[in-house]
Amino acid sequence: MSYKITVLGLGFVGLTTALSFSEKNHKVFGFDIDQEKVECLQSGKVPFLEPGLDEALNRHLNNNFVLTDNVSNAVKQSDFIFLCVGTPTGKSGEADLKYIFNAIDMFYSVLNDDKYRVVVVKSTVPPGTTSEKITPYLIKLGVKVGEAVSIANNPEFLREGHCWDDMLNADRIVCGVSDMKSESMLRNLYKNFNTLFFAVSLNTGEYTKYLSNTFLATMISYANEMSKIATVIGDIQIKDAFNILHLDRRWGNADMASYVFPGCGFGGYCLPKDTQALYSKAFSKGYDSRLLHNVMKINNSMPLFMFNKIKAVSNLTDSIGILGLSFKPGSDDVRDSSAAKIISMLINEGHNNIFAYDPVSNKNFDKEYKFKQIKYHHTLNSICEEANVLVLVTAWDEFREVNKKYPNKPIIDCRYFL
Ligand SMILES: NC(=O)c1ccc[n+]([C@@H]2O[C@H](COP(=O)([O-])OP(=O)(O)OC[C@H]3O[C@@H](n4cnc5c(N)ncnc54)[C@H](O)[C@@H]3O)[C@@H](O)[C@H]2O)c1
Repeated sequence: MSYKITVLGLGFVGLTTALSFSEKNHKVFGFDIDQEKVECLQSGKVPFLEPGLDEALNRHLNNNFVLTDNVSNAVKQSDFIFLCVGTPTGKSGEADLKYIFNAIDMFYSVLNDDKYRVVVVKSTVPPGTTSEKITPYLIKLGVKVGEAVSIANNPEFLREGHCWDDMLNADRIVCGVSDMKSESMLRNLYKNFNTLFFAVSLNTGEYTKYLSNTFLATMISYANEMSKIATVIGDIQIKDAFNILHLDRRWGNADMASYVFPGCGFGGYCLPKDTQALYSKAFSKGYDSRLLHNVMKINNSMPLFMFNKIKAVSNLTDSIGILGLSFKPGSDDVRDSSAAKIISMLINEGHNNIFAYDPVSNKNFDKEYKFKQIKYHHTLNSICEEANVLVLVTAWDEFREVNKKYPNKPIIDCRYFL
């Protein structure tokens, strides 16, 4: 069975979703409001670093995957409409749903013909959002939800840097559904993905995503808290201690162990905003989660913890070389990256001799943060030669031996990597 699908939002999640359905022989219309992104895609290039996606784009562009600027027309023909737009942090910490509502505004008027369609919220939204906010919004617009249109959600668990592989070899697919018809269509859609499929209530679907992200955030903050305790006690080999922890057979060599490892805090587009959004959602329902509060508090304290280490080995006349700008290795995403927080602190302190080098993210970082005080380097050697003090912020493999190559240079290893 081949479906027609419209995907709104062609970022990490939307583009990967769209191309994975194309790969499974469905016909996908892709739409994004970012013209620059669309032009880049139309020329056959993925606007961010994701292994496998460029090849997939070139396999399917103008065949099973078509970029469109006419959302209504695409939705008219489609069986599924996937919402993959951003859900950033709002003013009071809640998930800001404006992009979801804006996206709905673009196509709702064509939903009331005789064709049955499923609107699927793939963006990460806090439990209760599909039923309490998105469904009422559609109903208010006059959409006959439950008749011509079903609403579902389908949280995405992929990791940046592994988007394509995680999508095609997902360990589970979760769909929050509100009726049997949409459940059966979603089961069909995902049949060829050959993995566990769970149809659960709308709230459960959304909740599973937050369960996953807040668990990861909690593990990271636990590890960071332990690294602080180890530091104040002193004479503790933090990296070795955590590696020894991971040897416990009960970990079963799980990749998960890498999250129980200290660093300078989690960043990126998901863990900070999702932890905050779930905290805010629970708070709005009358529950003040001390655990999530402290997970965020510890995370927010980590850049300062590292900054103090830099201060201890440098003075304002020293040039500081920041190694790594993306929020994690293997990705060029610089959103909420620890490097930006540490650099802001250096600048506020009065440092204006800051160098930076990232194997793939110099340009993105400059575009996102526009720090005038940074001089970007284009090779590891040149930054290491020029800077008086090095600060390793992202654990790129390329940095592995940097302490051996420059044994006399002070290096603050924010990732316990060396
Ligand atoms: N990045 C991840 O690792 C990841 C993983 C799982 C879930 N998520 C969630 O998926 C959602 C999307 O995340 P992302 O990382 O792909 O974001 P992104 O910023 O890379 O992409 C979002 C895209 O939506 C577009 N957009 C905004 N309004 C639009 C509209 N009205 N119509 C069409 N396009 C519109 C933007 O231009 C942008 O290209 C978020 O809710 C996020 O929390 C992200």
